[in-house]
Amino acid sequence: MPSGNLDKQIKRHVIGPAQACYAVTPPGTEALCARELANLPEPVQVDAVETGGISFGARLAALYQANLRVRTAGRFLLRLARFKATNFRQLEKQCTAIAWAWYLPGGAVPQCKVTAHASRLYHSQAVAQHVSMAIAAYWRAQGVEPLEMPAQTLYLRLEQDTVTLSLDSSGDPLYRRGLKTHGGKAPLRENLAAAILALAGYNPEQPLLDPMCGAGTFALEAALWAKRIPPGFYRDFAFMQWPAFRPKQWQHLKNSAEKEFRTLSRPSIYASDLDAEACRLLETCIVRYRLDDAVSVRQHDFFELKPPLPQPGFAPTGLIVLNPPYGLRLMPDERLEGFYRQIGAKLVADFKGWQVALLVPGPQLIRTQPFPTRSIPLRHGGLSLILLVGRVGH
Ligand SMILES: C[S@@+](CC[C@H](N)C(=O)[O-])C[C@H]1O[C@@H](n2cnc3c(N)ncnc32)[C@H](O)[C@@H]1O
Repeated sequence: MPSGNLDKQIKRHVIGPAQACYAVTPPGTEALCARELANLPEPVQVDAVETGGISFGARLAALYQANLRVRTAGRFLLRLARFKATNFRQLEKQCTAIAWAWYLPGGAVPQCKVTAHASRLYHSQAVAQHVSMAIAAYWRAQGVEPLEMPAQTLYLRLEQDTVTLSLDSSGDPLYRRGLKTHGGKAPLRENLAAAILALAGYNPEQPLLDPMCGAGTFALEAALWAKRIPPGFYRDFAFMQWPAFRPKQWQHLKNSAEKEFRTLSRPSIYASDLDAEACRLLETCIVRYRLDDAVSVRQHDFFELKPPLPQPGFAPTGLIVLNPPYGLRLMPDERLEGFYRQIGAKLVADFKGWQVALLVPGPQLIRTQPFPTRSIPLRHGGLSLILLVGRVGH
């Protein structure tokens, strides 16, 4: 806890007023993320939605809630300053003028991640070095020995000589929910999987099938959603080291979230895969986090799969999410198209009335499904993907 005077300043300048914040989101999911922010229990003022991110104003408590509850974001930043700098002297002067003691643990020199565009200061490594030196000088002037703290990260964006300086509140990227200890073949990021479920209209009152589940990202995300467990419930965040952080307040936010958890009468999320080991690892994770009231896992070939029997309390048809192996992209086009046509034929044969969300790796595959679909362009780990969403006709 900071000393008396500093504590007062932190309350007055950091905890009290709304802060300028920024959500980093996968391109194509911004509107969903903005909607999630607007629905948080603490008020948030969404200012601008742009490609890959959302500017919003929020008090720290709302920023914590955003980290805890928003499913589609990649990370949340706290904007610290915006200024012009055309040379290193100006950059250092502006950086030393920031009251770092309000934001960082005593002496902390964060790691700096720099992007520069159309600016005279363009050498990202040199910019990062000068910022670190300025922060170290700030601490020395306060009589505190500086120390590198890579768990804290500053993001510097230089755009036409204007520097935007933000402190990362999340730490580990938010797609790391702290649940999965197992890897898989090309697992999706959890925040993208959550966005895909939302884009496809997932409703926990209806069954969900993830028949090429791999590491089970869709199934786990849907389980958290259906059980009303916030995605950040099982992990820590960088803001927990900030001098403005109040553990009791955080505990209160988590306790309130925990009161909303639901126990389900029977699983309505069906995960399956050809790969027995993938199924075993997913099952272990599901049992460890007591998600087995939401998800059932079994080894099965999608092309042999039949819809689950209708369950009391659930709609008879629901959503199928399909994320076929990316390795297929290496196949010649006709074989690749043939594989996706086979999927379409299987869906039409056995899943009439079901909503489908199918990830395809290229535009040549859009027309492979024998029912109407809409295409949503997405990006994942540098790859362009298309999400096809449609309903299998009766
Ligand atoms: C890209 S991975 C899925 C990744 C998953 N969405 C995740 O986030 O971990 C594709 C999966 O499809 C599975 N698969 C391939 N052909 C299958 C089939 N005919 N039936 C069931 N699973 C199949 C593979 O074993 C692999 O785990």
